[in-house]
Amino acid sequence: MCGIVGYIGREDAVPVLLKGLKKLEYRGYDSAGIAVLGARRLLVRKSKGALKYLEEKVDAEFSAGELAGTMGIGHTRWATHGEPSDINSHPHTDVSGKIAVVHNGIIENHAKLRSWLKDHGVAFRSATDTEVIAHLIDFHYNGNLLQAVTESLKRLEGSYALGIICENEPERIVAVRKESPLVVGAGKGENLIASDVPALLEYTRDVYYLADREIAVLSRESVEFYNEDGVCIEKKASHVDWDASAAEKGGYEHFMLKEIHEQPKALTDTLRARIKTNASKSIDSKSINLEEIGFDASWAEANRIVIAACGTAWHAGIIGKYAFERFARIPTEPDIASEYRYRNPIFDPRDIFIIISQSGETADTLAAMRLAKKNGARIIAITNVVGSTLAREADLVMYTWAGPEIAVASTKAFTTQLMCLYLIAFQLGALRNTLSKEELARALAALELIPAQAEAILGAKENIQRFASQQFNKSKVFYMGRLFDYAVSLESALKLKEISYTHSEAFAAGELKHGPIALVDPSTLVVAICTQQELFDKMDSNIKETKARGAAAAVITYEDVSYFDDTADELFRIPRTLDSLTPMLSVIPAQLYAYYTSVLKGLDPDKPRNLAKSVTVE
Ligand code: F6R
Repeated sequence: MCGIVGYIGREDAVPVLLKGLKKLEYRGYDSAGIAVLGARRLLVRKSKGALKYLEEKVDAEFSAGELAGTMGIGHTRWATHGEPSDINSHPHTDVSGKIAVVHNGIIENHAKLRSWLKDHGVAFRSATDTEVIAHLIDFHYNGNLLQAVTESLKRLEGSYALGIICENEPERIVAVRKESPLVVGAGKGENLIASDVPALLEYTRDVYYLADREIAVLSRESVEFYNEDGVCIEKKASHVDWDASAAEKGGYEHFMLKEIHEQPKALTDTLRARIKTNASKSIDSKSINLEEIGFDASWAEANRIVIAACGTAWHAGIIGKYAFERFARIPTEPDIASEYRYRNPIFDPRDIFIIISQSGETADTLAAMRLAKKNGARIIAITNVVGSTLAREADLVMYTWAGPEIAVASTKAFTTQLMCLYLIAFQLGALRNTLSKEELARALAALELIPAQAEAILGAKENIQRFASQQFNKSKVFYMGRLFDYAVSLESALKLKEISYTHSEAFAAGELKHGPIALVDPSTLVVAICTQQELFDKMDSNIKETKARGAAAAVITYEDVSYFDDTADELFRIPRTLDSLTPMLSVIPAQLYAYYTSVLKGLDPDKPRNLAKSVTVE
């Protein structure tokens, strides 16, 4: 977690840093801070709580010209070591206050370094792991910041993205990363660093993605890159063609609502270049174009598919299981990355590993991938972030073209992850002949309709808003379903709990009577997701069982189904598609329900308590 920024140029650094931090606030909002270098004096200002408190703090000083300076670094914190407080906020400085450091990550050997530095007379101020870095750099500083950084890196264990400035060197920012994201933006007469691209877009679209242990030295006119030994290296810039407004709220009250509404486009973008349906040509495996990612027939020889991911991405993986087993007849095991990596898993060289992560930086997910890779596995990454660690380390990368996802609660990343998984499942099915040409043609035709169908659901969002206004105070909300609908229930319950703090759970509907039904009482809202046609009668009985215990029941089902009209207290309709594709649609009413519940409770759905967007700690 945590977001870092850095600027060196000709403008006043304070507003540039604050604007950059605003774009990164989703990464943590326990505290914020900046260090500005002006008139050869390093000025550090920091404040506990959201960025607005720092803004308030620096406003008058900046207006009075007391924070002038055209280079600086900034930080927005998600606390790990040390409680949120002014003292523990970044930037951290060495004892003399001439070196300032912002850090995203965790220094694992900080306790050892702290006691070693104390033995060398260093007095610590904070409880953070980061402070050791500032002192360590000072310890090695001999008039050359780059050299001091390379020496210090030799002693650091753990993960870091660092921005470092030194009062004695007003012409450069040194930045380095290992296992935490960091992007360098190359402008004209100005250069920047940031944890994520949106913070750079106002200034440049030419970016460099640092690899692990690579160091960037930014001056006003140039950026130079070095390896960990301080040897100069060449790097190629990438051009980011996102629309800057894609990283803004675009008229919506919250990023989450905007991102829910972006799903039709995100689904189209994720699908478009990957299918080649043409009425005059017959449909076969070539109708799916996964060549761009290097997918060939050899992948279809897999005996097993293993999926590892966290949170929402793991829920996508469960849907992937149903799709792979149904269409490609390949046994599939979706696993929570933080469980997978510690359970001494069994490897087979013919396995396919699919690793799913919106950010491409989730620590447990990366660790699961590295474990699989070390054991010879072939890895397909599904991620939304170009140049992310996951994208760089996997054998094949399939991007979800969802655009930046800023809200902490994942929405468009989920549905586009599903789109990718279905495409792989259909491709494998076609290559293995477990899917007939007719079935493939039907499936691809249905996929092409999904974006417009998602749009239609969004067009009826007032129904969900009205329902939420009646139900938002419910103390218990249980989602239930079978097969694909069960996986969507897991995701729906997660969405609701994380942004509205409602106690919500998901159950496989058939399991209800094996225990969970004991929780059902008149204070319960049950939302049954019913899109698996052959299981309608079973679902109807399950809904009735909960209603008999006093629960209110809402049902999400197809628009042309009247099966539940008499059972449900409320019905939400989705357009007809193949039963196996419904997750991309049935989750949308649940996303909206979670969003409106959060807003009605007076909460900020973009910034749920205790959560951060990118979970780069284990
Ligand atoms: C929930 C949510 C999280 C993430 C999880 C994995 O709305 O966003 O559960 O899905 O932290 O993140 P990524 O996909 O970035 O690996």
